[in-house]
Amino acid sequence: DWTMAQFREEAIARIREQVGSGRVICGLSGGVDSAVAAVLIHEAIGEQLTCIFVDHGLLRLNEAEQVVTLFRDHYNIPLVHVDAADTFIGALEGEADPEVKRKTIGRLFIETFEAEAKKIGGANFLAQGTLYPDVIESVSFTGGPSVTIKSHHNVGGLPERMNMQLVEPLRMLFKDEVRALGRELGLPEVFVGRHPFPGPGLAIRCPGGVTREKLDILQRADAIYLDEIRKAGLYDAIWQAFAVLLPVQTVGVMGDARTYEFVLALRAVTSVDGMTADFYHFDMAFLGRAATRIINEVRGVNRVVYDVTSKPPGTIEWE
Ligand code: XMP
Repeated sequence: DWTMAQFREEAIARIREQVGSGRVICGLSGGVDSAVAAVLIHEAIGEQLTCIFVDHGLLRLNEAEQVVTLFRDHYNIPLVHVDAADTFIGALEGEADPEVKRKTIGRLFIETFEAEAKKIGGANFLAQGTLYPDVIESVSFTGGPSVTIKSHHNVGGLPERMNMQLVEPLRMLFKDEVRALGRELGLPEVFVGRHPFPGPGLAIRCPGGVTREKLDILQRADAIYLDEIRKAGLYDAIWQAFAVLLPVQTVGVMGDARTYEFVLALRAVTSVDGMTADFYHFDMAFLGRAATRIINEVRGVNRVVYDVTSKPPGTIEWE
């Protein structure tokens, strides 16, 4: 892509000019934006960059390993992998209030990130994968100027607290352009084409208290659902698809035995920017296939339902 090749060169020059011989820390989330920012900055300044991946244990199945492998083995970029799952899940265990869950995750993220940054001797710059819509739409997670629908999980306040300057090489780009840049930089397609994923992760797809057992069920069911979507060739036609593990158990029958297990909701939407969304019209045969596989393969789920709510009035995530 000619435009992206040019953007890449110019962005590298700008990063070198801004950073000079300073040190940069970049937080990786597992998502496309921070990964593209990190790879671009590494091209510009090499070992002056250290990435910190705060693994909160709330990512999709196998995605934490994918991040570590991609950065360490594929790109050879210095990466600190902080396994903080116990801290995060421990703090979330008895908490059912969605806003408290979001704020707890945000606070722990900042504390963990800050502690790790200190351990590696600090830095002059903090790199972020901020996109143009994040810059212009500071209200993207609110229902209007004064009503907060959901607190947005980000590292706001961190640069000032840590006395660091921001490096945001993607500030002028939209999501599709970031994906094009990622391809230009050689990031694997599974990474570049990935659906958006919220900072608070699977915690907000697990209404009620979060436990390791529930996360394990949710990760495995979600992976089967996404696998079926990919097999049906629908992944790229959908903005986001995911499973939600409900805190409700219902009665079922398996063989000759009574079961009493959780309900799993499936969600899929189309959208341009996440601000509004339509539920995706799967055919019933697809939904039946996905439900059968999930119930057969994942112990702990005996009923699957499909969410037919658009945004508004629903939000995309359940919390
Ligand atoms: P809602 O649920 O508000 O979500 O309709 C709109 C889009 O934003 C994502 N989302 C988040 N992304 N941090 C993020 O980085 C968050 O705290 C967060 N909450 C929701 C959501 O997945 C959807 O794409």
